[in-house]
Formats: sequence, C-alpha cells, structure tokens
Amino acid sequence: MRSQIDREIEELRERIRHHNYIYHVLDRPEISDAEYDSLFRQLQRLESLHPQLVTTDSPTQRVGASPAEGFRTIVHAIPMLSLDNAFTVGEINAFDKRVCKLLDVDRVSYIAEPKLDGVSVELVYENGSLARGSTRGDGTNGEDVTANLRTIRSIPLRLRRSHVAIPSVLEVRGEVYVERDDLLQLNEKRDAAGLPIFSNTRNLAAGSLRQLDPRTTSTRPLRMFCYDIGRVEGISISSQEQLLEVLSQLGLRVNPLYRLCSGIEEGISFYNDFQVRRKSLSYEADGVVIKVNEFALRKILGSVSHSPRWAIAGKFQAEQAITKIREIIVQVGRTGILTPVAILEPVRLYGVEISRATLHNEDEVERKDVRAGDMVIIQRAGDVIPRVVKSLTEYRSGDELPFRMPSVCPSCGSMIIRQQGTVARRCVNISCPARIKQSIVHFAGKAGFDIAGLGIKVVNQLVEKGLTKRPSQLFCLDRETLISLERMGPQSADNLLAAIRDSRSITLERLLFAIGIPEIGQQTARILAGRFGTLSRLESASKEELLAIPEIGPSITTAITDYFANQENRVVIEELLACGVEIKGEEAQLGHLVEKRFVFTGTLPSMTRDEAVERVRNLGGKVSASVSSQTDYVVMGVNPGSKGARARSLGVKILSEEEFSALIDQ
Ligand code: IVH
Repeated sequence: MRSQIDREIEELRERIRHHNYIYHVLDRPEISDAEYDSLFRQLQRLESLHPQLVTTDSPTQRVGASPAEGFRTIVHAIPMLSLDNAFTVGEINAFDKRVCKLLDVDRVSYIAEPKLDGVSVELVYENGSLARGSTRGDGTNGEDVTANLRTIRSIPLRLRRSHVAIPSVLEVRGEVYVERDDLLQLNEKRDAAGLPIFSNTRNLAAGSLRQLDPRTTSTRPLRMFCYDIGRVEGISISSQEQLLEVLSQLGLRVNPLYRLCSGIEEGISFYNDFQVRRKSLSYEADGVVIKVNEFALRKILGSVSHSPRWAIAGKFQAEQAITKIREIIVQVGRTGILTPVAILEPVRLYGVEISRATLHNEDEVERKDVRAGDMVIIQRAGDVIPRVVKSLTEYRSGDELPFRMPSVCPSCGSMIIRQQGTVARRCVNISCPARIKQSIVHFAGKAGFDIAGLGIKVVNQLVEKGLTKRPSQLFCLDRETLISLERMGPQSADNLLAAIRDSRSITLERLLFAIGIPEIGQQTARILAGRFGTLSRLESASKEELLAIPEIGPSITTAITDYFANQENRVVIEELLACGVEIKGEEAQLGHLVEKRFVFTGTLPSMTRDEAVERVRNLGGKVSASVSSQTDYVVMGVNPGSKGARARSLGVKILSEEEFSALIDQ
C-alpha cells in the first residue's frame, strides 16, 4: 500500500513534470518562476526527509551523477544512419525520381523538416523512464552521455501519459542544439570572465555534451528536437507524420515546422521557402530533410552503406569563399587572452567584405596546419566571426610560413601564461596597451557608453600617443587633440566630442557592464542595477547580500567583491565621476518597483516591449511571461491576449499604457 507521503511526493512530481513540459517542450509557461521554484523546493524537502522514496526519474534528479572518468561505449540496437546530401533543386528532383522508380509509382508523399545543425543523439526509454542516452558516434557505437542528457530540460526523464500507450521500449533520436541568442549570451559571460568563447552553436552543443561533469552541462543552454526512432516495442507506428504526433503526445519535443508534402514539388517549395525563413529562426538550420512518409515504403527502399534511400538532406550552400592569408597575427583581448587571427586578402562573403578570420587558438592552427601565405577556405555559417575552414595545400609554393605562438606578449613583451585547463594563453600584464585598447573599445561599445565614432582605429591612436590610458580620460579629450589624429577632420572631431559628452549620463546597468568587471555581462549588470539601485550600495554589498540574489553564484560574487576591493578600480570609478559621468536616476532606480512583478500583453503604442521591459527592470521590478497569483500588474496594450482574462480572474491589477507610464515616471 502506498503511504500518504508517497502519494504526496508523486503528485508534486506530476505537477512539476507538467510545468516542465509546458515550459520547455511547448514553450507556454502557465506559472511564474517563483511558483515553480516553490513546488520544486517542496519536493526537494520531502525527498530529503524520505530519501528512500527518491526515484531516478524524479524532476529533482537531473543533475545527480558525479563526474565521470570517461564515456562508456553504447552500441545502437539499430545503426544511426547519416543522410545523403543534395545541394540543388535538380539533385532533390533526382532523388525523387530514384524513389519513384524503385517503388514503381508516379508520386510519393514526403515529410519535409528543418535540418538542425547540432549533435544527434539517441535516448532510450524503458517502460516510460529515460534509461540511457548516447551520441551517434560512428553510427554503430556511440558514447554514453546519459548523465549529461538528463540535465537538458526539454528531455523528459519520464514519458508523458496521454491517450498514446507508453511503449515498453522507445529509442528516440533527435538533435541537441543551442539557440543563436543563447550562444551570444553565454559568450558574453565567458568573455567577461576571461574564458575563450565558442565559435558557433554546434561546437557549443558538442562541447557541452562531452563534459565529464554533468554540473557543467547543466549550465549550458541545450535543447532537443526529436525526429526519428530506433527500436520500439509496445506500440506500432506506420508513418513519419504519425511518429511526430506520437512523440509529441509522449511529451517529447518535436519541431512544429515540418510539412506533409503530397509530392516532391511541395518538398522543393518547402526547401526554397525555408532558405529564407531560416534566417529569422532562433536556431541554426543548415538545410531541410525530405523523408518518405510511409514506413512500409521505406522498408522497400532500404539503405545503401551509411544512408537510407528514403531520405535526403537538401543542404543550403555554406557561406564560403577562397582567399589568401597575408599574415597570421596574434590579437590580445581585453582580458589578456591571445588569439591567432588570419589577415586575409579581402574577399566578399555574402555581401560583406571580409579581411580577417579567427584561428581560435594555437592548437587549432596546428591541427589544421594553416600557414601564412596559404590559400584557404573561409566560412561564415552559424559562426560568430568568419573562420578558416581549411588550407588548400595543393596551392602551396613552399614559401608559406608555419605559425608559432610568440613566447612573450606581442603588444607589451610581458610573460605569457597558459591558462589552467584550457588551451588559451594570456598576457599577465594588466597595463598591456592591447588590453587597454580593447577595454576602451568595450567601454565605448553599444552596450556600454555607446560612443558613436570611437572604434578601434581611433582608440589605437589615442592609446599609442599616450592620450588615453584609462576610459575616464576620454572625457578630458579636446577638439585640438582629436583633430591631430589621423583621418579625423574637424567635423568628425566635433561629432565624436558631442557623442562623448552625451554619453556621460548613463544608467547604472550600462556603467556596470562598461567598466569590465570580470564575469559581468549585460544580463548580470541589469540584475545588479535593479537590486542595488546605486553604485555605492553595490560597492559596499557583502558576499552574503550578493549570494542572496538567485541569479548570482559564488564566482560572480567573488568577481564583484574582488573588483571593488581593489584600490585601482575604485580610482577608475572616482575618476569617471569626477569627469562628469552621472548615473541616470540613480536613487530612483531602487524604489517603488523593487520586487514588483509585471506581465505585458498586447502592443504598447508609445514604446516597444523591450523598452518597457528595460524600464521595469531598471526600476528593480521583474517581468514574467505569464500571469499568476504572484503578479502585481498586468499591463494591457492593444490586441491583448488571454492574459487579461486570467489577470481579472486572479484579481491582479490591470494597467493601461498611460497608467503604466505614470507609474514608471513617478
Ligand atoms: S533524420 C537516417 N531529420 O542530420 C535519417 N536528421 O546528415 C536519420 N539531422 O545525423 C536522420 N535534422 O544529426 C533527420 N530533421 C532531421 C534532422 C536530421 C538534423 C542530422 C542528424 C543526422 C544528420 C545526417
């Protein structure tokens, strides 16, 4: 007989699973983060009181395993095949002709799906619980990355109950991937912390799945879409269309952008449309996959070596170009990290002229054997910065120069250290001119003081001529000095002076980002500004106060307290304030909106949603996606959704746009 407590625990788990599902799979949250956290904590508390009742598929057990020494091999019961590629409409038509001929029919129905650019994996569910998960590997042998896959919120630890029977065995396959914005956000944090950045979403997904410590994986923004099966027992599925439906019924995440095509023409039109549409998606897709819909027909078609005859990947041309490397230089970043960069003969890549491409680090240059003077293929796919794909060694004349990482900093001649646990090398000198230049560029960048016209070329001259050693000195520059710079006419000098002058009034959030505190990206700066309201409160904040903020962990806390404990940093800030920098509405920032929770619905006529959200956050308030009993205000714009009704039923205060404006301007 199940005890009362047992039932209570299971009921809580079901509720949490339900919210996980609607949030991470359907992307339609119903409760606030705080409500979710409270359910989660209740479960954690009950489980800690009754450890014998903890099950491996409990939502609390995502990050449980301790670090592994390596990955075991898992043999896929049914090999995971790869796909043949088609690069043109003609090749897709040829695929269809082959299919029709082999089946002896005139037309075949297909399912066309986006082809995601991530890492393909297989999950094995036994009696509804996630038992194992592995990478594709060579198709037959994959790596056991179960502990890492369990940390991905869109992967259910247990299949969802619905009208579809839970299969006794379900091997489901799909792609683990990262969204573009998540890559940028993570890179921003890593850059601020002095860690090397990930060059594209696929590398981030692959690197995160291969972490030995699942706690690291759990901090990475991984998601999964499911699109295929291996072995299945207990249910029968006869087409791709049905498969996608069954998988979503079982709580697995399926990409909704697929299309059932009655013939290849519709598949081709999906391919053509998608080539444009993919640019506005939140994730990278490098093509479409066109698959015969009926499984019975797939069986007849069979496979050749490593790919099935019943599917084709319609790929989009990678954005590549061929050019010559003039030289390989080493760039020193704001945090001192050294990056080899290829200086190229300029070449156009999809409308943009490219003259440099990153080589990431020394190991990569060596592995790819890239030399100065080489002809190379460069590419911009999901990449943040164009990169060198490979050298075309057949063009070598023998005059090419292999790359050697300098033994001292190319900018200041100081010692270089290899950062522990990474391939990155770093200059140890905090006064290194290259580091100073990059920190000034960061300071004046869009997310910081946003000084138009202060790019790297001007900064180089200012630093090299000894005119600016610290960002604060930008505010002391005069017209005469600026005109003396190369390629700076009187008009540009005046514009720059005006831009510098106007930038002096800045929000606390931007200031915190601009001064370059390690680990503080835009997001963290916003949270800190909303919480503390004034710079002096943040400066004197204790570790305990910082740690009490849910989004702030121990390493950010240490970065902040170390930063303000350093006398030199305090001088930098004092100088900025002495030079006339003024923090906009500092006192007002912490005030009437602290801890107030807002939900927006509909369009606001006089400001964008982003602006409204920023205003609320700057005033210490919070914005959530859905209305709950914890919501303080629902701001109703034009064409509101169902949130208004929900607010009314919960008795939450509804504000018109005018009332909202009056509230934030108080
Ligand atoms: S179906 C045998 N569907 O593309 C066919 N694959 O080049 C099994 N991929 O290894 C794959 N999106 O990693 C399929 N919607 C999709 C896909 C997809 C991405 C990847 C997958 C596969 C590779 C083949």
